[in-house]
Amino acid sequence: SERTYIMVKPDGVQRGLVGDIISRFERRGFKLIALKFVHASPEHLEKHYADLKGKPFFPGLIKYMASGPVVGMVWQGLDAVKTGRVMLGATNPLASAPGTIRGDFALAVGRNICHGSDSVDNAEKEIQLWFPEGIVQYTNDNEKWIFE
Ligand code: GTP
Ligand code: MG
Repeated sequence: SERTYIMVKPDGVQRGLVGDIISRFERRGFKLIALKFVHASPEHLEKHYADLKGKPFFPGLIKYMASGPVVGMVWQGLDAVKTGRVMLGATNPLASAPGTIRGDFALAVGRNICHGSDSVDNAEKEIQLWFPEGIVQYTNDNEKWIFE
């Protein structure tokens, strides 16, 4: 089934939200297949956000994302990319519904706690960028209780 790249941003780490965010994905029924704690370089983050190069907020975004460690994760399951985005909420937390990660924990678009891949293609690119060493596969016998 589908995989998505989810990352707790430096503000989420500083605010102690790593456990809550992991817990939400676990309880929803997704399978954790990779996890990494890393203080990323600006060069690495520029690759991650390459599509946004040229936006007025791009330099500030890279500075924010390089300001401390992040927690990068790969979650697998039914419709993982789209459902991951729904769980995150809208990009601007002012528009994020309560019950979403951003809607529960954030106020400002420039401090919005968490990243999620926006398409299956981008998810695969991001997984390659953050986990070039590859991912360990394992069987989880729960899956038949989570989707058909
Ligand atoms: P990610 O999951 O982090 O990729 O967010 P997104 O897909 O919801 O939004 P997008 O990829 O368009 O933008 C990436 C990140 O740049 C956002 O999550 C914000 O942190 C930041 N960003 C986007 N738009 C703005 C903006 O207008 N102002 C500021 N300050 N930051 C922005
Ligand atoms: Mg994005």
